This record gives sequence, structure tokens and C-alpha cells, in this order.
Amino acid sequence: SGRLSLLVMLLLMSGCFGNENLTALDPKGPQAQWIFNNMVLSLYIMAFVTLVVFAIFFYILAKFRRKEGDDEYPKQVHGSTVLEITWTVIPILLLLVLFVPTIMGTFEFAESQAPEDVEDAVYIDVTGHQYWWQFDYEEGFTAGQEVYIPTGERVYFTLNAQDVIHSFWVPALGGKIDTVPGIENTLWLEATEPGTYMGKCAELCGPSHALMDFKLIALEREDYDQWVEDMVAKADVEQPEDSSVQQGYEVFQESCISCHAVGGAGSASGPTLTNFADRKTIAGYLENTDEQLEAWIRNPDEFKQDNNMIPFPEEDLSADEMDALIAYLRSLDVREEDDPE
Ligand code: CUA
Repeated sequence: SGRLSLLVMLLLMSGCFGNENLTALDPKGPQAQWIFNNMVLSLYIMAFVTLVVFAIFFYILAKFRRKEGDDEYPKQVHGSTVLEITWTVIPILLLLVLFVPTIMGTFEFAESQAPEDVEDAVYIDVTGHQYWWQFDYEEGFTAGQEVYIPTGERVYFTLNAQDVIHSFWVPALGGKIDTVPGIENTLWLEATEPGTYMGKCAELCGPSHALMDFKLIALEREDYDQWVEDMVAKADVEQPEDSSVQQGYEVFQESCISCHAVGGAGSASGPTLTNFADRKTIAGYLENTDEQLEAWIRNPDEFKQDNNMIPFPEEDLSADEMDALIAYLRSLDVREEDDPE
């Protein structure tokens, strides 16, 4: 439905393409579908109004044009009660057509609790930081930058911010919602199919606002349960089991631990790295390769201006230490096989 209007919107919004599922025009969940339907509805209404106005306009241009023999100044009219009521009532009716579904949906989507007959509903706390995302799970672990959810059910988010106002937005799944320091907002999202959905901060929050990206990864319920189990297991691991990354673990303890946690739950000043090796990106948007990782650790500000990470030049972290650290970070994976995506 709405193929023509869709094409027009695609054209207007083509700047938004080239990123994984970063579009509101290909909805992958009930909330996004509802938003999309409302967009199409309002486009139809606007198209209808434009057509009617132009039709009347051209009709009047033609009908009341100056004809031969028209030498008199036409009769001057000062008002028409019928016309004025008409062009007041029609827009009110059109607005009501948009108002009713908008308000009903808005309340439904603000629902913060699962109905009582739903078992094992997933609740996730989201915290926005300059410039990264923290996701706290009820099971007692924390994830940074990538939030995992089960597919085909409502997932309930409670949103908050650490420093300034951010906005949590996964365009393919639903509407954006502000994360505000000191205030708890709520939102639910549902993904109808498994996949990786790109998320954005949608509120100007500082120089690197545009880079405050995250991923929402929807897994089938059993894969999700497995992931949770693995994250819980990881949360308790202190020492690496693999002795080959022992040196990197020590470097990490010395240089990184004051800002980054591995395992455990709750906030640190930097993203929790429990499942860092599973991440598709570094810092939310850089490709997760060893070269990129080293470049990032050496000089984070080059990639994300105004972020809080301390740079580690060679005098603070030798090339050997860097290699060991990267090997340790690469060992921090939870998911056995790679995502099929
Ligand atoms: Cu956070 Cu923009």
C-alpha cells in the first residue's frame, strides 16, 4: 500500500540509506508498522488536500478570468460564513482522523509492564552516556553498545541518561524516545524477525552525537535464552581461562579497568566489555578489526571527538602490550558461532 507515496519518501530520505536496517520505511515490528501506516495516512490526506486546493484554484482561474467585454471592476465580496465554516470544519475533521490513532497508539506504546498472563517478559534498562549506550539486564549483567532481544515479543525498556539528554531510536522497530537524566521513560519494542537493527541517538548531545550509534540484535527466543545464560556465566569469570591471554589481562587490569568492566553489572564510566569480541563495531561505528581497535585505543579523540576515553600512546602502552591487550579483548566473546547476518 502507498507505493507512490513510499517512492516519494524514499527519494526525500535517501540520505538515510547505506546502513543496516536504518530506515523507518521498511518496518520490522508492530510499532514501526504503526508509525509507517500513520505516515502513509497523513501523506494521503496531504495529497488529497493539495489536489482539491489546486483543482479549485485552476477552476476559478479559468471560470473567472477576464473575458472579452469585461470592462467593469467585479463585484467585491467581504466574506462568506458558509465558506469560512466549511474550511474550518474540514481541517478539523482531517486532524481528527490523524489525532485518534496517534493518541491511541501513543498510550499503547508507552505501556511499561507486560500483561500478567505473559511469562518471562524481558525488561531492559537503557542508559545514555556521551557517547555510548549501556544496557542492564534483569539477570544481573550489563552490555554496552549492542542490545540483544528475543524476537516476536514485546521487550520493555526503561530509559535514563547519565549526563545530558539523548534519544534512543531504532528506526526499523519503532519511535524514538528521549533519555533524560533523573527521569525514567518507558518504551516497548518488538522485532517480528531476527536480525541486526541499527540504532541512533536522536537528540543533539555534543560533538560526537552523530556517532552515538548502537545495534539492536534480535535473536530467536531459544538463542536469546542461551545468550543470557552465557552472559550470566561470563559475569562471574574473573581470570581468563585461556593462559595465552594472561598478559593482555594484566595490561587490562592496569590500564583499562578503572573505566571498563568485564563481567559484573552496572555502570562504569566506559562501556562494559564482557562480550566485546562479539561486537560488530568499536565505539558504535568503527569496524571491529585489530588495526581499527589499536588506532582507537591509541587516539580515541581522532574518531569520536569529545569522548571520555583516555588516549594510550606508545610511551604508555608498548606495541607488545598493545598486542597482548588486543588478544585479551578478542577472547571476550560469548557467542560461539558468528551471527548468520
Ligand atoms: Cu547522545 Cu546524541
